[in-house]
Order: sequence, then structure tokens, then C-alpha cells
Amino acid sequence: MNMTLYEIEQLVFAEIVRVSTAKELEEIQHTYLGRKGHLTAILRGLSELSLEEKRDVGERANLLRVRIETALKERLEEFKEKQEERFFDITFPGKKVVAGHFNPLTLILKEIEDIFISFGFSVVEGPEVETEFNNFDALNIPANHPAREMWDTFWIKSQSSNLKSQRLLLRTHTSPVQIRYMMTHEPPFRIIVPGTTYRYEATDARHEMQFTQVEGLVVGEDVTLANFKAVIEAFFIRLFAQKVEIRLRPGYFPFVEPGVEVDATCPRCKKKGCELCKFSGWLELGGAGMVHPNVFDAVKYNPKEVQGFAFGIGAERFAMIKYGIPDIRLFRSGDLRFIRQF
Ligand code: DAH
Repeated sequence: MNMTLYEIEQLVFAEIVRVSTAKELEEIQHTYLGRKGHLTAILRGLSELSLEEKRDVGERANLLRVRIETALKERLEEFKEKQEERFFDITFPGKKVVAGHFNPLTLILKEIEDIFISFGFSVVEGPEVETEFNNFDALNIPANHPAREMWDTFWIKSQSSNLKSQRLLLRTHTSPVQIRYMMTHEPPFRIIVPGTTYRYEATDARHEMQFTQVEGLVVGEDVTLANFKAVIEAFFIRLFAQKVEIRLRPGYFPFVEPGVEVDATCPRCKKKGCELCKFSGWLELGGAGMVHPNVFDAVKYNPKEVQGFAFGIGAERFAMIKYGIPDIRLFRSGDLRFIRQF
């Protein structure tokens, strides 16, 4: 049965929208515009119409043909585009995703923190600008004490008062956080304090003006230096994933008594002697000792009731050993060639 122009128009565009393959589009083209197509039939029948009808129907039929052809073409284009999108060559080399990198210092601190957290320690922080009192006096290092020369200090110009105990500085170690913590907490506790520290020093491959320490403090009843040795040994074994020996040598730090220097067997040469340990077989890890009674006095703890051990280690040093970094100045150089290796 022949279709009217109106019927064709109603159907054809709906069909064009509905189909999903080029083949189906071809069928539509055939059904309406082909040799025996519906629209073709109308155009063929024009000769039987009156002149007036011929002009009217002819014009409308031709217009409709053009619209159908355009719609078919556009739809075909759409299919082509979609197909290109869907084409995925799995043998094509992937694009490298550019990701940021952690500074090795961040990595080592995370490792150190995780280990101590697993030992039941809490991680505590303190400010980098400190009072002279927290950084020195309360740690048993009064003004004019010769031990102050152990720490070349960046002093901060005071804006107002000249009160000695209010003088500010860039902390020379993380030890002042011991004072802050003990003044606001009661024993027993175990904490570590990672943080940036500053010294007014000439720099070389092993010294920087800005560096990172991890302080440790354990206070309670019956805390001993043997406890410290066990903790630091377990820590070092975890960090370097190998058996080590720990050696304590007498050392002087005003805030501990007795004070010790802590060495561990070199994880690289296993005590045989190498460049890292300067052929001694031992590496210096840091300082430690039993908290001095004067420090407990300063924070109003009773030294007769509690004891504690404290230690301070350098984070860069551990990262340098673990990742084989030759120069401490690389950490904060901002050199991307360095960072990208981690
Ligand atoms: N604060 C010391 C320093 O920077 C390191 C240190 C030594 C920390 C002995 C301690 C300690 O807690 O007991 O040189």
C-alpha cells in the first residue's frame, strides 16, 4: 500500500533515530528512497496529478527527500565516531601516569613512626620556634653553662621584652618537646617526637642547618636503661630487616644521667668495615640516657617515684643509610632529579 507524504515523515525520522547500525540505515534508505521506495513511488506518481497538485506535492516530496538523506548521513557519521572511540589497541604502549613522589625523609619518618607505634608509643609534635627555657634551661642547661656550646643556636630577635626565659630561638633539638609533654601529662607514657631542628652550622655532606630528629621518651615506674637497649635494638632490627648488635658508650648530655652514645653494627658490611661505617664496623645512631632528676624537677615530677629513658636520633642519617643517599644537603635541595628516584 502506498504511503502518504505525511505518513512517511511521521515514520522515517523515528526509525533513523532508533536504529543502531549502518546496515539498518541502508535498509531505511532502501525502504523510502530506493527504486521501489515509498517516497520514490510518490515522486513517480506525480505525472498523474494536476498541474497545481504536481507543484505542491513535488516540492514537499523533494524537500522531504533531502531531509531524509541528511538525517541518514548524520546518523552514519555518529556511528563512525562511536566506533572509533570504542576501538582500543591493547598492544599499544601505555601512557605513563605522572605521580608525585614522597621525599625520602617523609618515607623514613613514616617507617620510624610505624615501628614505634607498633611498640605502643604515641607520636607527639612541638613547635619549631621554642623558648630558651624549654630548649635549654628546663633540660638542665642553664645560661652560661658550657654545654650550651654543643648547640649553635639561631636566636630570634625579640620584639618586646628582655625577659631571659622568654627569649625565642629555632629549636636546636626535639628535646624541648619532652618538657612540653611532661608539663601537660602524667606518667606512665611512651612517646616519640619527630620534627625539624636547626643549628647555626657550616654545612657539608653530613651537616645541614635544618635537619630532622626523632626524640623518644618513656617515663614510668621501673624504667631502666636495659629497657632502652631492648627497644632501640628491636627498632633497628625492624628498620633494617636484619639482626644487629647495639653498643652503648658513655656520652654526655646535660638532660640525662647516665648519658650514652648509641652505636649499632653496620647494616651494610655487617661489622666487616666499609665506607659507610668508616671501616669501624659500627654506626653512631644518636644519644640517649636516663632522664636527669633536674629535668623531672623542672616539670614537677617526683624523681623518687618515676624514672625514664630518653633518646634522640637523626632521621636523615637513617634515610641516608637505608636508601644510600650520599649527601644530607640533597633532602631539602628541591632537586626533582633526586625526589623522582623515590
Ligand atoms: N638532643 C640531643 C642532641 O640533639 C640528642 C639526645 C641525646 C636526645 C640524649 C636525648 C638524649 O633525648 O637522652 O644532640
